[in-house]
Amino acid sequence: VYTRKADSVLGLMTLEEKIGQTVLFTSGWDVTGPSMDPNYKTYLKNGNVGAVFNAFTTEYNRELQRIAVEETRLGIPLMFGYDVIHGHRTIFPIPLGESASWDLDLMEKTARIAAVEASAEGINWTFAPMVDVARDARWGRIAEGAGEDTYLGSLIAVARVKGFQGDDLSASNTILACAKHYAAYGAAMAGRDYNTVDMSENELRTTYLPPFKAALDAGVATFMNSFNDLNGVPATGNSFLLRDILKGEWDFDGFVVTDYTSINEMVPHGYARDEKHAGEIAMNAGVDMDMQGGIYMKYLKASIEEGKVEESDLDDAVRRILEMKFRLGLFDDPYHYLDADREKELVLNDEHLEVARDAARKSMVLLKNDNAVLPLSEDKKVALIGPLVKDEKNIIGNWAAAGDRNGTAVSVYEAFEARFGKEDLLFAEGCKVLGDDTSGFDEAVAAARKADVVVMVLGELEGMTGEAASRTDINLPGKQKALIAAVKATGKPVVLVLMNGRPLSLEWENDTADAIVEAWWPGTMGGHAVADVLYGDYNPSGKLTVSFPRTVGQLPLFYNHKNTGRPIPPDDPDQKYVSRYLYTPNTPLYPFGYGLSYTSYSYNATADKKTITPSDTLEVTVKVTNMGERDGEEVVQLYLRDKVASVTPPVRSLKRFEKVAVKKGQTRELTFRLTADDLKFYNEDLEFVHEPGVFELFVGANSDCPLVHTFELVEE
Ligand code: IFM
Repeated sequence: VYTRKADSVLGLMTLEEKIGQTVLFTSGWDVTGPSMDPNYKTYLKNGNVGAVFNAFTTEYNRELQRIAVEETRLGIPLMFGYDVIHGHRTIFPIPLGESASWDLDLMEKTARIAAVEASAEGINWTFAPMVDVARDARWGRIAEGAGEDTYLGSLIAVARVKGFQGDDLSASNTILACAKHYAAYGAAMAGRDYNTVDMSENELRTTYLPPFKAALDAGVATFMNSFNDLNGVPATGNSFLLRDILKGEWDFDGFVVTDYTSINEMVPHGYARDEKHAGEIAMNAGVDMDMQGGIYMKYLKASIEEGKVEESDLDDAVRRILEMKFRLGLFDDPYHYLDADREKELVLNDEHLEVARDAARKSMVLLKNDNAVLPLSEDKKVALIGPLVKDEKNIIGNWAAAGDRNGTAVSVYEAFEARFGKEDLLFAEGCKVLGDDTSGFDEAVAAARKADVVVMVLGELEGMTGEAASRTDINLPGKQKALIAAVKATGKPVVLVLMNGRPLSLEWENDTADAIVEAWWPGTMGGHAVADVLYGDYNPSGKLTVSFPRTVGQLPLFYNHKNTGRPIPPDDPDQKYVSRYLYTPNTPLYPFGYGLSYTSYSYNATADKKTITPSDTLEVTVKVTNMGERDGEEVVQLYLRDKVASVTPPVRSLKRFEKVAVKKGQTRELTFRLTADDLKFYNEDLEFVHEPGVFELFVGANSDCPLVHTFELVEE
């Protein structure tokens, strides 16, 4: 029905008007909010623009929509896109942080709230979720994804798409989602943003494509190209990715938008002679909408007239875009996302803030807790030390596009103030995040001396992660380590609360501090969430979705690597001619899936068969007992290893997990069911198959968990 409706509009359109629908421009930005370049208003009036991004608030967007609807010949409404990455006004933890909750319902809920707030401000399309698998902590955009694992990343992609889109795209509080960045952007060479990607099709299909496919199966409306080239062809001009896989094999019926000027960038990539040529390559490859590059607007007409691009391909692109406008209900009511009352009522409301607090504490990962220094007891005197204690700006993280950095977010200091009052607080900044100034150390040491325990809030600046924010050094920056050393020398227990957007190398900190809480960039309610965790109002349950290396030299690092022909023998770890580094173990400091709690759990896992056929189900029963004195939540993880396959298998892969609440003293019993489908992999001919043979199961609290069962898959 939407195709029919789109076709009825398409039939009325001139070539110029059709091209106009494929053009996406950003609204300019000045200090007070979005602003439109006067040229753009002319483009809008002429019907040269199909969608606008970076425009929001009902008042502003209403005017743009009015121009499109009332002043253009056909009155086709605009779509409004925006980077609603981890909340709109109410900011949730950065996506990498939130993924550490392993709580799919929570992630769906935060995406839902983000959609509710964004749609109340005129937005009907988000450039999220980012579903790039990322395994290199140097890459700043690792902050925006769900970590290193394909299986978990795929489930999180689904949760987020469902959250944004709901089950009715025409509702005024749902928005189009966008699976980005297609494809393999997370594998940018050496962790440098926008860099080259060269990988086998087997690796592409095994590791990088499944989250996109999962998003598509969940009904994601749009896809965004990545900036990188893939095996010599820029993703924006890659008809293998777009026409063969996405629109062919997967039968995607939404539309594909470029990343910001990525058509133009095919020229410096050395893939297009000039911009016009780049536009032809992009349209021929299946790119439907040009973000900000202006290439389709400038050249597509000539390219069609010269026969370099088929008008039918443009028609297909426009049909896809118009269909989405119909599905959003924009043709029925172009202003239905533009209701100032909803905006007032919904943005940053109490319910949203409460979810933000909950999401932040569920995302935090307790990395170390010696001598049960945490949770803190309220009668102990605390000194708050560090450059991020009072921070209200970085705490919401990168890509918090509409998030307020001027006081809405709750800092750790404010949260302590709310608990204990201002008079009693001991505080010293100590140093800045960056720079060499150590003049604040004395004050920090003096504060530590007066306290029973020190809480140090340290990390990165938000701009050190995200786009174009790759690092070659993933240590705590500036003088923060020296500050820890100075404070530790007082002999007081030191608790580190880290706010950062990527795995850091924390080997020294792990040896030095008494406790470490990875708080990520926790969002608007971050300070309260930190205090909730430190004081045990919330028992930490977060688990890393990305391995933390010992040193940057181990990158890329991920748990499901291959074994190599020369793995390190466990009983002779110092052997030389094996696949290892000199002086540094291969293992991470903290493995994928790792995270402590204020209680402890014991595991007992059994499986019901030693042999299965392709039609059987293997039932794995896991009993988890809470051995401590506090109720908690545990992420129970199950990994599988294929011992021998016709393509070398990974040492283990996550196959199932469940986050369960376990009361103190309680045992919970879980059942995981596996079938031969879970044993499939891409063989040399790129067929997705299972092969008979022996498999091992590992169950426990992180990816370094023990072997619990061995079984064999045999033919029927
Ligand atoms: O959505 C983003 C993308 O992830 C990176 N480049 C800019 C786009 C629009 O802001």
